[in-house]
Order: sequence, then structure tokens, then C-alpha cells
Amino acid sequence: MKYIQIANTDLKASNIVMGNMRLKELSLKDAETLIRTAMDEGVNFFDHADIYGAGTCEEIFADAIQMNASIREKMILQSKCGIRAKENYYDFSKEHILKSVDGILKRLKTDYLDILLLHRPDPLMEPAEVAEAFEELRSSGKVNYFGVSNFNPTQIELLKKYVPQKLVVNQLQFSIAHTPMIDSGIALNMQMDQSINRDSSILEYCRLHDMTIQAWSPFQHGFFKGVFLGDTDNFPELNEVINTLAKKYEVTATAIATAWITRHPANIQVVTGTTKPSRLQDACKGSEIPLTREEWYQIYKAAGNMVP
Ligand SMILES: NC(=O)c1ccc[n+]([C@@H]2O[C@H](COP(=O)([O-])OP(=O)(O)OC[C@H]3O[C@@H](n4cnc5c(N)ncnc54)[C@H](OP(=O)(O)O)[C@@H]3O)[C@@H](O)[C@H]2O)c1
Repeated sequence: MKYIQIANTDLKASNIVMGNMRLKELSLKDAETLIRTAMDEGVNFFDHADIYGAGTCEEIFADAIQMNASIREKMILQSKCGIRAKENYYDFSKEHILKSVDGILKRLKTDYLDILLLHRPDPLMEPAEVAEAFEELRSSGKVNYFGVSNFNPTQIELLKKYVPQKLVVNQLQFSIAHTPMIDSGIALNMQMDQSINRDSSILEYCRLHDMTIQAWSPFQHGFFKGVFLGDTDNFPELNEVINTLAKKYEVTATAIATAWITRHPANIQVVTGTTKPSRLQDACKGSEIPLTREEWYQIYKAAGNMVP
């Protein structure tokens, strides 16, 4: 397992992250097996959000592992807030952020979060108010570090104007079958869809500003449209290339799909959402596979992208 230093923190994190959004599908026993498998593989980073299973995923996580001080210190725990799922809107008010964190800590049975992310940008965000909330969370010891998710560079700059703490993470959708972060840079200024810059060059921005990128839904295409691995109707060429490389490296297709992300020099963390211990082990095998430059491009092209 490869570990990366999250810049501007004292956190040394596995580049494979266990995402807990789907934990509600599991019994406590199966959840425990999954978490222990992750830890046995060297995963030390666990991603949550207050809305996953309306809070039940955080509860299941803590109950399954019987959270206590000695387990807690082996883990880097990250959660997110800022989405009001039931009402279907975003809320970055100070009151909501503080209340959300209290709920998260209670459900995870811990005194502190290593990292808190703002889940999706709230157009009604008052950055000064967010700064007040962060200050209170930091000084009370409830949150050590802060970050964002699904933010573009300008939204981050706006927040940074008011928030004194470093924003250390940006969690973004990224998989072989979802590559807007790469596409526009490769096909700059061409008259084709691939050239559309959908995120104001967020990948380069994060690298320039030492923000660790975390890739969510690494095996999905579209917005939860399904898994591209094994989907030979929609991704015949991609699966063929992935399967050939899986044979070469003596791993599964899941490992190759993971390795395509970990191979990127930005040191991106892969947030896997599988509920199956064996698939999690497969993904962990992709932590360090040294895909060649040629193989990386071959996969990118097989996903339907052009290299002009
Ligand atoms: N920041 C955000 O806005 C945001 C949004 C979404 C998610 N997230 C985070 O990202 C994590 C991962 O998201 P995700 O769960 O969508 O990611 P994912 O790992 O791409 O997808 C996992 C799902 O795909 C299935 N799957 C994976 N490989 C498969 C294969 N080869 N064949 C069939 N099914 C396969 C899994 O089924 P099995 O369980 O059967 O393996 C599971 O249902 C979440 O847990 C959460 O922490 C963040």
C-alpha cells in the first residue's frame, strides 16, 4: 500500500480510501469484516458524510468496529456536511455546520474528525460565516483539518479569502469513464465536446495549491449510471484493454481501474465504495501498479477519448 503525505497536515494516508456511502447495505457483522479487511490491507483512511444513509452509515461504521480509543488512533476519519438531503438543498450556515459536526462525532463515537469537508458548494455561502464555524471547530478540537468537495478553483479562492486554515482536500468525481478533469487540458481550444472546460482546471489548481484530490465513484460512469467494469455493451474497448493489462500484471480489472488513477502524478486518493471485502482487496492491489505512460494513455483512449 502506498501512503501519501496530505500536504499541510501531519497525516500520512493510504492512497486507497474506504468510502462508506453504501455501508447501510450491510449487516454489522459484514460491515466489520469489510472494515477489518481494509485495515489489514493497509487502508487507514475512511470517508464518511452526514447524509450517507441519513447518518446510519456513520453509526454502522462505529458500531461494527466497536469504536474505542485504540482503534480510533489507527484511523484517519473524514466526514462531510453542508447538504440537507431531506429538504434537498445546501446549507453552509454556521449553525448548520456546527450542528452537523456534533451529529457526526456522536454517530462515529469519536471526539474529533481528522478532516471535515464541505460536501457541495452552496451558492448562498457566506464565507465569513464558514470561517467562524471552522474557527470554533478547530479551537474546540472537534476538527483538525478542513477541505472541500466538488468545488471549483474560484469557489475555493472565495473561501480562502476568509478561512485562515489551509484547505487540504478536494474530493471530486473521477474515474476512467469520467475524466473531465483531464479532457479539456488535452484537447485545448478544439471544436469538440472534450475541449469543454467544465471545472476551471481544478486538477491543475489543486496541484498548484497543494490540495490532495480524492476520486469519488472510481468505478462508475455518469452520475451513478453504473459500473463500467464488465459493461461490454457500453465500454467494449475499454474492458478489453483493462482485461489485457489485468492479465499482464496478474491482478483483476478492478486493480487496473484503480491503478489508472493512482498512476497520476497528483497522488490522487481513490475512494472506493465497494461492499465486498474481496473487491476492496482487488482495489488495494491497484495502489502501486506502475502502469507505463503508454498503458495509461491506452486506457484513456479506450474509454473513448481522443489524444489529438
Ligand atoms: N463527495 C461526493 O460528492 C461523493 C459522491 C459519491 C460518493 N462519494 C464517496 O465515494 C465513495 C465511493 O463511491 P461509489 O460507491 O459510488 O464508488 P464505486 O467504488 O465506483 O462504486 C461502488 C459500487 O460499484 C459496485 N461495483 C464496483 N465494482 C464492480 C464490478 N466490477 N462489478 C459490479 N459492481 C461493481 C459496487 O458493488 P459491490 O458493493 O457489490 O462491490 C458498489 O455498488 C463513497 O462511499 C463515498 O465515500 C463522494
